[in-house]
Amino acid sequence: MDAIKKPLIMARQFISNHVSNGDHVVDATAGNGWDTLLLAQLVGNGGKVFAFDIQKEALTSTRELLEVKGLLHRVQLIIDGHEHMNSYLDGSISAAMFNLGYLPGGVHSIITRPETTIKALKAALQKLREGGLVTIVIYRGHDGGRAEESALLAYASRLKQQKFTVLHYDIINQGNMPPCLMVIEKLTE
Ligand SMILES: C[S@@+](CC[C@H](N)C(=O)[O-])C[C@H]1O[C@@H](n2cnc3c(N)ncnc32)[C@H](O)[C@@H]1O
Repeated sequence: MDAIKKPLIMARQFISNHVSNGDHVVDATAGNGWDTLLLAQLVGNGGKVFAFDIQKEALTSTRELLEVKGLLHRVQLIIDGHEHMNSYLDGSISAAMFNLGYLPGGVHSIITRPETTIKALKAALQKLREGGLVTIVIYRGHDGGRAEESALLAYASRLKQQKFTVLHYDIINQGNMPPCLMVIEKLTE
């Protein structure tokens, strides 16, 4: 019945199949912490999750969730824009997750923005190790969402095919503009 999975589920599947024990990874938009939790479960005690958000409220929710699950020690919570991730990452990463838009249950006017999202994506792709993956769930239903999608498609479709493979996963016959997913794999340095 639902053999075709929603973009959010697909993003989590890609990440679950890819991230392993000891990896360093990024949650570029921590929000309520659900992706941070998944990443913390996957990296094991030897790994590390760098979780970014610009809202204190988001990082408080993420901290609480990770504390309840006993996995906070695997996570560094960073209250800063993901566009500055280079200042925090010491080495390479095996994956980064972006879940764009606004904080569910939070203020709808604080959203990810095309310029900073692209800057963060460039930083993540630079830090990604060979074979690494970036997933981006793109929301289009709010003001500014379509512009962010266009900027991402324009940028990612021009990435060199020798270096990256870019997947765009979109359900095209639903109303209310459902989210879509972009997955980028780094083939070579
Ligand atoms: C859709 S939510 C993320 C949901 C989250 N992944 C989860 O599992 O609950 C998007 C988040 O991006 C954050 N955000 C917006 N601009 C940002 C930026 N420049 N850097 C980091 N986070 C940002 C918002 O504060 C918001 O919490």
